[in-house]
Amino acid sequence: MRVLVTRRWPEAVEAALAARFDVTFNDGDKPLSQDDLAAAMGAYDVLCPTVSDRIDAGVIAGGDRVRLIANYGVGFDHIDLAAARAKGIAVTNTPGVLTDATADIALTLILMATRRAGEGERELRAGQWSGWRPTHLVGQALKGKVLGCVGFGRIGIATARRAHHGFGMKIAYYGRRPCEDAVAAELGATFHPDLNSLLATSDVVSLHAPGGAGTANMIDAGAIAAMKPGAYLINTARGTLVDHAALAAALRSGHLAGAGLDVYPAEPQVPAELLGLENVVLLPHLGSANRETREAMGFCALANVEAFVEGADLPNAV
Ligand code: DGY
Repeated sequence: MRVLVTRRWPEAVEAALAARFDVTFNDGDKPLSQDDLAAAMGAYDVLCPTVSDRIDAGVIAGGDRVRLIANYGVGFDHIDLAAARAKGIAVTNTPGVLTDATADIALTLILMATRRAGEGERELRAGQWSGWRPTHLVGQALKGKVLGCVGFGRIGIATARRAHHGFGMKIAYYGRRPCEDAVAAELGATFHPDLNSLLATSDVVSLHAPGGAGTANMIDAGAIAAMKPGAYLINTARGTLVDHAALAAALRSGHLAGAGLDVYPAEPQVPAELLGLENVVLLPHLGSANRETREAMGFCALANVEAFVEGADLPNAV
């Protein structure tokens, strides 16, 4: 059973994989080219990619040996599922294990954006801090403000829990259907079946929808115009959800007070129009980046590979 792991994984997971299978690791940890990925389809039984690999139809057409694509990560919009399915290739992901870490980063961005922490740090490091004064870098309080979650699955709910129980925010959400009664009662969460209605009532909008064609540019110029003046946009989901030219225009005009982004449409490129703006916090896709979570993601992917090899039901088939 030949397995290709496209990026370096935490040591403990690599050791566990190597003990079970004939594994090729990407020692240089540079992204593989589309040609390398296509060639791998004919040389390995299992491909273990990450969000930094584009497993498109061209790659999938590259060979007939791979039977399982075991993704290291929960999002799978970088994998052409239809092309995989057409060739009978199973696809798995790593849901659940990165919920808390990603919600933590959403709160990090909410706090950094509303309290202007990035601006402050840049000013201080540039030697431009002239000392405490009542009007210096004044941000916004969170208590009593409305957090509007676009998407209310595991990560959206975990973010809402932190914002409500930890910071006294009111919770509203947009999704395909109302959440469970117990969650709604715990958070006092208000369901908005209409996106613009959620956007119009939220002081902070946090995105928790999956990527892919169905959600591309869902936060476009019209949606941004529907947001409350002075609101904040937070994105820890996928960069493709947002029209960044429209976002930059709203941040420049002051329609939005700020934004906090962890994800971008064509990573590692960051939309150039954002880089010069003070009122946006830009993180390099750190949502799941803590040691415990990255190990748990690896062991979750490994469990899927093991189940596949044993012919058992795949724990996380997508
Ligand atoms: C995922 O798992 O989809 C993340 O974006 C990578 O941390």
